[in-house]
Amino acid sequence: MLRETVLTPADFIWPLFVIEGQNERTQIRTMPGIERLSVDLAVEAARAAAAEGIPALALFPNTPDHLRNENGSEAWNPDNLMCRALSAIKSAVPEIGLIADVALDEYSSDGQDGLVRDGIILNDETVEAMVRSALVQSRAGADIIAPSDMMDGRVGALRRALDAEGFDDTAIMSYSAKFASAYYGPFREAVGSGSRLKGDKRTYQLDFANADEAMREVEQDIAEGADMVMVKPGMPYLDIVRRVRDEFDVPLFAYQVSGEYAMLRFAADAGAINGEAAMMESLMAFKRAGCDGVLTYFALEAARLLNG
Ligand code: PBG
Repeated sequence: MLRETVLTPADFIWPLFVIEGQNERTQIRTMPGIERLSVDLAVEAARAAAAEGIPALALFPNTPDHLRNENGSEAWNPDNLMCRALSAIKSAVPEIGLIADVALDEYSSDGQDGLVRDGIILNDETVEAMVRSALVQSRAGADIIAPSDMMDGRVGALRRALDAEGFDDTAIMSYSAKFASAYYGPFREAVGSGSRLKGDKRTYQLDFANADEAMREVEQDIAEGADMVMVKPGMPYLDIVRRVRDEFDVPLFAYQVSGEYAMLRFAADAGAINGEAAMMESLMAFKRAGCDGVLTYFALEAARLLNG
């Protein structure tokens, strides 16, 4: 009766890693309990998520090595792994929302989110590539386009291109306040970009010392037409979540990223903490800080626990 904050399965977005093949699942060494799934198994996972009341999935492809190149051109192949996963899930489980990540690191040979020439990230060329990628994803069934690259001007460019192609109802969830973070390590292993990445992403992702700059990024993305914004990582950045909640009237999400999942999971597996209790406490903290929803690898497990 006196609880100020509630947590339900409707608060969760479940990130899924997809691979080629049939009936294939592969372990991710740095994320015990999370597997990459072939499209047929991703459809089953989507069904299980929908049955627990999870409203949406966020899909990430592990593109086969031979399809990666320096332009990341597989990103706009209409028959790429991501598009096949989107359309298979959309037709089998139409009730679940599909969020498509847009960035080049999942397709390029260098693991950077943008196109690189002579060691420099090319902002405008990258935005053009992202637009092409978002259009094939929208045609394949994505409900929400989620640019995670942090290039300047990408939200406006995506909105204009989507509208021009008749995707007025496709929403944009912008990774607006995305910090250059050590907590993305396990994700990069999951999508196969980590071993390729030279250097870091600090020229385009935010400096974790800066909160005012994060507010300017959020403001800019809203002005360019973002329907929802995201803060990422999650737990170490709940001060940023709270500021966005207080300063902007916009649907707000946070991403409890792979390294956060790994910390909790490995600590629980070692018997250092009670895993279920820490999971629920961490998820409630996102709601308390002001999130409308949380992207979390715990989504299915936490939803099952809440549903009894
Ligand atoms: C990149 C992307 C990343 C994540 C989501 N999209 C990694 C990065 O920026 O290097 C991280 C998610 C996680 O760590 O769980 N397009």
